[in-house]
Amino acid sequence: MSDTRPPSGPLPRHVAIIMDGNGRWAEERGLPRLEGHRQGAKSVRDIVTYAREIGIRYLTLFAFSSENWGRPADEVAGLMDLLHEYLVEERPTMIKNGIEFSTIGVVEKLPKTVQRMIDGCKKATTGLDGMRLTLALSYGGREEITRALKKIARGVDRGEIDPAEIDESTVKAHLDTHDMPDPDLLIRTSGERRISNFMMWQLAYAELVFTEVAWPDFAREDFNRALMAYQKRERRFGLTTSQLQGGPVYNDAAFVPHEGAKSA
Ligand code: FPP
Repeated sequence: MSDTRPPSGPLPRHVAIIMDGNGRWAEERGLPRLEGHRQGAKSVRDIVTYAREIGIRYLTLFAFSSENWGRPADEVAGLMDLLHEYLVEERPTMIKNGIEFSTIGVVEKLPKTVQRMIDGCKKATTGLDGMRLTLALSYGGREEITRALKKIARGVDRGEIDPAEIDESTVKAHLDTHDMPDPDLLIRTSGERRISNFMMWQLAYAELVFTEVAWPDFAREDFNRALMAYQKRERRFGLTTSQLQGGPVYNDAAFVPHEGAKSA
């Protein structure tokens, strides 16, 4: 652990990360792909701790996509074991550090043992207000939007939603992220410059930062570099420079934070 400090200046309220490159990291070293994921889990631990320390309010990590089920069975099983181990080992640290744990995605598809740990972590950390850590698990952005649309259609069917009243806030209210602000910054590691079906709706105005560093090597210094890149961007949300008043600007001013984050 280093004594790294974040760059001075406004920090993003919500950082989302596509943790890519575990497999290549391992293959380049002649190691099994799972070793890359194991090292990747260490980066998760350190970046979660650091984000909490420096005052990031929401951190969302893409840990397993809906497409990842198509990977070889032993890799999927290894990832599930790592996830289980992470939740068992980190629960006390989450509580100690005031981290509220949540998930997005179809967790019902995960092994029952993992689901039980997820439930346990959620229950044990509900209302903690240091930071919200969200793992995207069995998650796909288009799938999430489709699920939201189905829920809205059911609401219309039952006469609870007036189709004429449907607007962006209706869609947001039915997404997995209904109680979170949209990400201000998206980081993707390992050189690829794609969104890969991650938070398709929520990333509309996020600043995108891509780094060549593979996730298992991603350290606090790399996180700081991404924060610095973010701070250099001018976030206009379709307005002109002179219309902006200065100070931190978020991409959803109407968002009402959950109880714990009100002081952010
Ligand atoms: C992408 O690397 C990463 C994943 C599919 C899984 C991410 C999982 C972890 C970081 C470890 C377990 C998670 C937690 C929360 C403990 P890739 O395998 O697609 O890399 P490649 O593109 O080089 O093949």
